[in-house]
Amino acid sequence: MKAIEIRNKYLEFFKNHNHKVIPSAPLIPENDPSVLFTTAGMQPLVPYLLGQKHPEGTRLTDYQKCLRTNDIEEVGDNRHLTCFEMLGNWSLGDYFKEESIAMSYEFLTKVLEIPSEKISVTCFAGDEDCPRDNLTAESWKKAGIPEERIYFYGKEDNWWIAGEEGPCGPDTEMFYDTGKEPCSPDCQPSCGCGKYVEIWNNVFMEYLKKDGKYTKLAQQNVDTGLGLERMTMILENKETPFDTEIFKPVMDELEKLAKKDDIASRRLVAEHLRASIMVIADGGRPSNIDRGYILRRLIRRMTRHLNKLEIDLDELPNLIELNIETLKELYPELLNKKEECKEVIVQEKDKFMRTLIRGEREFEKVVNKIKAEGKDTIDSENIFKLYETYGFPPEVSKDLAEENGLKVNMDEVDKLFKMHQDKSRLGSEQKFKGGLAGTGEQEIKYHTATHLLNAALKVVINKDVHQRGSNITSERMRFDFSCDHKLSDDEKKQVEDLVNKWIQEDLTVTVETMKKEDAIKSGAECMFIEKYPDDVTVYSIGEVSKELCGGPHVKHTGELGHFKIIKEEASSSGVRRIKAILE
Ligand code: ALA
Repeated sequence: MKAIEIRNKYLEFFKNHNHKVIPSAPLIPENDPSVLFTTAGMQPLVPYLLGQKHPEGTRLTDYQKCLRTNDIEEVGDNRHLTCFEMLGNWSLGDYFKEESIAMSYEFLTKVLEIPSEKISVTCFAGDEDCPRDNLTAESWKKAGIPEERIYFYGKEDNWWIAGEEGPCGPDTEMFYDTGKEPCSPDCQPSCGCGKYVEIWNNVFMEYLKKDGKYTKLAQQNVDTGLGLERMTMILENKETPFDTEIFKPVMDELEKLAKKDDIASRRLVAEHLRASIMVIADGGRPSNIDRGYILRRLIRRMTRHLNKLEIDLDELPNLIELNIETLKELYPELLNKKEECKEVIVQEKDKFMRTLIRGEREFEKVVNKIKAEGKDTIDSENIFKLYETYGFPPEVSKDLAEENGLKVNMDEVDKLFKMHQDKSRLGSEQKFKGGLAGTGEQEIKYHTATHLLNAALKVVINKDVHQRGSNITSERMRFDFSCDHKLSDDEKKQVEDLVNKWIQEDLTVTVETMKKEDAIKSGAECMFIEKYPDDVTVYSIGEVSKELCGGPHVKHTGELGHFKIIKEEASSSGVRRIKAILE
């Protein structure tokens, strides 16, 4: 079934169930400076979820272009996208769990004709904020899903909120079983191995989160989101969204034009090209801040990967033409934006190429020097200087270093950016990927929290857990670590409890300078030993943690507040990722 048919059938189905079809909002939100892009169908509806009367009534449906940048680093694999379409239906204080589930089940099995036995669902397991969602599980059973395909998970999997605060609630997610071999005897929808693909999320929004506390809303809402690209992939019986009609013509053309065979780069180009077109068509322009910087990065990354594929950059206008032709049924509004898209993208590409050519020349000199010295790591200082002198983006340095078989410590590079407080770039970078963040109070707290988390994981999991990366914004921390299994709820709880215990003990954070060998002998933890100069700074937290680190950190752990894991997921093979917040 084609994407346009799925969309039409969806809207038709909900229209038949007394929903009003409302127009899509632009990708760039109107009058909402709090978010850079529309990230979910519910976003323009927040006032109505909170109780304001919607002129079209209490049952609504639409399709919505969305853009999310949190997974941008993953684009190029077989499933992640920045730009996607969400089909949604809403109850604003009208129907609730039972009716919502009955409709979803009917749509999936009767309209789309997905065999019922291919569907598994997940429900909220309950915690101190909200009880176990037995009604949802019962509603699924009544609809036709047997108990063995109903799973219960905690907040990290079955609770939905847009950002940190606002309307939210437990959700129920529907998964499609691809029929692939289970990754382990314990393979489940939540494990992320690819056997189960999430297709639809129904959120039962009856809570409001404010100042870290949950209160009941005046009305019980339903907010659902079904990913069009994924559903198309399933119904076209394809392995990835890139094999569907949405991406296929552009993917084929890239394959034809490329002199190098690199599927990840082809996917990245196809994805970022589509996303850039969508953003430009809705009025976005590249710049150095906020959403303009995101667009700039999308175009730069795409250009870089076109180069990698050895595709002539003069092909860009043709690729844009082809992409818009491919999408014209879904988004006819793109048709009269062709010239605009070509102009903006080509101009930005030209600008970037000038930087790239200059920077690559300098980069090569650095690489030759390092290789001549027999080293295998590029100094963070070099990467920073390339940015400062030539505007050469650090992520490009990272890519090039890897292509040359050299290592970089991006955490260290981030720290240099922090130290230099490049303000104009910083604000947007932070919103973009939470990378090179400022050294605000909150970031410092999160930085100390990563040390505690690192130490707690070693206690709870085992001593062989090591940091593989981290990324901090003022809102949250992300921590990647080596570990061969998905953490159980019990392990996550133990980790959380241990970190919170150490916070409550108000341990003192101390710093000392020592010789690198002595630091290592003393058992201090570090990510890349060869990265450090002979004299290093070592931060200790009470007796529980000791790490080579440039700081800064808080003075006492008591300043951190309450530590909470919000998500634990696979990052790459043998590496897990924890997202956590301090409340
Ligand atoms: N707002 C919900 C989501 O984005 C449906 O998953």
